[in-house]
Amino acid sequence: NKIIVLMGGPSSEAEISRLTGNAILKALKNKGYNAEGMEFVPETLVEDIKRSKCDIVFNAVHGKYGEDGKIAAALDMINMPYTSSGVLSSAVTMDKVATKHLFRSAGISTPKSRFLRKRDLNNNLTDEIIKEFSLPVVVKAASQGSSIGVEIVEKAEELKAALENSFKYDDVILIEEFIKGRELSIPVYGNDEKKTLPIIEITTNSGRYDYKSKYTKGESHHIIPAPLSEKVTAEVQKLCIDACTVADCKGMVRVDVMLSEDDIPYALEINSVPGMTETSLVPDAAQSIGIDFATLCEMILQMAVE
Ligand code: DAL
Ligand code: MG
Repeated sequence: NKIIVLMGGPSSEAEISRLTGNAILKALKNKGYNAEGMEFVPETLVEDIKRSKCDIVFNAVHGKYGEDGKIAAALDMINMPYTSSGVLSSAVTMDKVATKHLFRSAGISTPKSRFLRKRDLNNNLTDEIIKEFSLPVVVKAASQGSSIGVEIVEKAEELKAALENSFKYDDVILIEEFIKGRELSIPVYGNDEKKTLPIIEITTNSGRYDYKSKYTKGESHHIIPAPLSEKVTAEVQKLCIDACTVADCKGMVRVDVMLSEDDIPYALEINSVPGMTETSLVPDAAQSIGIDFATLCEMILQMAVE
């Protein structure tokens, strides 16, 4: 059985994807698997996969194409098994706006939000937003990962620039209520019956879990399991499992959650190809209950063929 670990590509998270992919590749090779890495080239993906004569694709492509269902669609069309969620689930979870609609209609707790298109930009817009959400407010590009295109705006005069910055990444952006509280992230796995790995609480030196603090060693800290009461732990786990069930996720995903100061959890989004780098969350949560990195990779492969 040959495994292709697919990574890189044209997304803004390509560098992170290569870190994820190479970590997975190394672990699988060390365990004696016939695994090979492949740089993702959209134009030639199908030919490249066919030529490799592989039996399964480990999708390590973050962001555009990897997490939005396009790679899944291409692989579906050649009947090639792969490790991530299917087309519809990936497309919905990659898009922060579609995710909001889904969460809301399914009764999944999520911060209040509205979305904007470029054509909505006008002179009164910043005043409107401040009136509706008050400050701080979160501005997010609709379909990026690793906090790219995300800004937390504290001052009214900074809002316009934040909107313009997020619009550099996407034509649609999300304005979201800022939940003051604790930042949690929860790996959820399983195809039909879903389970969680221990809840991770994230703290940072800078006070912001942004691209830099996510990927610079020592800049962010994972507290596992998050020190929460049994009741709140159960509520957070249920919220995440419900979110992944309505989104029909497959394999291993990760749900980002804010826990308000009065202990109400809010689901922010689901990551369908969670990072597996040295500073990433999922491997740490697995390690905390004795699942080493290679075993985690095996679990993910196994779910792809169930
Ligand atoms: N988007 C990054 C890779 C993550 O969620 O881990
Ligand atoms: Mg994300």
